Amino acid sequence: MKFFIDTANFDEIKEAHSWGILSGVTTNPSLVAKEKNVSFHDRLKEIAALVDGSISGEVIALDAENMIKEGRELADLAPNITVKLPMTPDGLKACAVLAGEGKKVNVTLIFSANQALLAARAGAAYVSPFLGRLDDIGHNGMDLIATIAEIFAIHDIDSEIIAASIRHPQHVTEAALNGAHIGTMPIKVMEQMFKHPLTDKGIEAFLADWEKRTEK
Ligand code: E4P
Repeated sequence: MKFFIDTANFDEIKEAHSWGILSGVTTNPSLVAKEKNVSFHDRLKEIAALVDGSISGEVIALDAENMIKEGRELADLAPNITVKLPMTPDGLKACAVLAGEGKKVNVTLIFSANQALLAARAGAAYVSPFLGRLDDIGHNGMDLIATIAEIFAIHDIDSEIIAASIRHPQHVTEAALNGAHIGTMPIKVMEQMFKHPLTDKGIEAFLADWEKRTEK
């Protein structure tokens, strides 16, 4: 499973990129709205120049015609921009047109296997099931990841599954085990993934022993 970071914050993206683990970035309107004094398009260009991978920018329009217009503008910003579209009939109309032009599309706000199948058949390069938000309403988000992975494998569908709305490291391990191709997550979850008390304890012991060494 590859790692995407789910943020529009450039400092966080630079930090995760410096760890050598980053294969892409996802943004959404809520994440972009948190960023002050920078235009959406400028921020996407900045990210796309730094990270060699898919950078998702989401359209705001709800009708297919304007989604296509916005999607084309986003895709023109940089060759690695992926157009993020919501899982609606208009979103899929726009997906079919943009994918037909060779643009990469990420269909977002997926909460069922049928939605993922529809998005894949409309030409989406990526489908984004939101597992944390399903957990929030008492469903099992991870079951959805596993079901989509199974359906895509049975039918040889090559759209990549982005496990989205990841809330903690356990989600990451389970999404990887259940066949997600990509996990997109906040930097906080990535930082938590580094942590293990035995790693800290081990470093402490190595350094303490080093201090006791006797040089020849
Ligand atoms: C994915 O592309 C979404 O931006 C994201 O994962 C949503 O996560 P949230 O449910 O934590 O807002």
